[in-house]
Amino acid sequence: MLPTAQEVAERAARVVIEGVRAALASGRTEPVIGLATGSSPVGLYTVLAGAVEAGEVDFGRARGFALDEYVGLPPRHPESYREVLLREVCGPLGLPPERLHVPDGSGDSEEALAAGAADYERRIAEAGGVDVQILGIGANGHLGFNEPGSALTSRTRVKRLSERTRGDNARFFDSLDAVPTHCVTQGLGTVLDARRLVLVASGAGKAAAVAAAVEGPLSASCPASVLQWHADAVVVLDEAAAVGLANRDYYDASAAGL
Ligand code: GLP
Repeated sequence: MLPTAQEVAERAARVVIEGVRAALASGRTEPVIGLATGSSPVGLYTVLAGAVEAGEVDFGRARGFALDEYVGLPPRHPESYREVLLREVCGPLGLPPERLHVPDGSGDSEEALAAGAADYERRIAEAGGVDVQILGIGANGHLGFNEPGSALTSRTRVKRLSERTRGDNARFFDSLDAVPTHCVTQGLGTVLDARRLVLVASGAGKAAAVAAAVEGPLSASCPASVLQWHADAVVVLDEAAAVGLANRDYYDASAAGL
């Protein structure tokens, strides 16, 4: 729990940098970062860009794997997650565009989309898995685009977006009607395979979802509760996002270290 958005971004960026260093130290020459979109990680990416400029970390030989992509947006649509990540991550962080992988939402049939999803899983495996996965959380507790009800062991696949999520994301489009109805998202099982997870959330709108994810039952009703199953998951929150946590004093004391 940190008082300002800047401190949230800095703390989360620290986890990512440590994850990259740990991967390199373990002999992985091409560390893999799992990339989230949305507003939550924007500050984190800005801090990482500063760290690149300062020579603290280098993403030139890294690979980035996006969590999810919309289905059916025209190629190069500015709100497709490929374009968002090219703009907000590849450029600022010096991650070569050919090292960015995004699920393929362009298939025109269920079979084509399913084949693309299976191929995405293969590419993650070929890259040696994700070293550090950046996550946001939906106001309904979704992770990636794994909406409530998603299987806890799910893999990359097509999902329908909930109307709440479409409404939340309408701000990025001209109208609600322009928001796609479907996506291809890494599954919760895919996310759990990453070696380290870092979830960032800020604002009162996330407080209920954060409380359910961190302290509620492990349940498909709150997909982000799968973080409880992961041995190395860090949750970085601002004050407003943390207000629903009952054991907050304990988390603050733990975060202060030994
Ligand atoms: C989006 C993304 C998620 C993101 C979440 C929260 O639609 N698919 O990966 O974490 O919803 O978004 P935001 O950070 O903008 O609140």
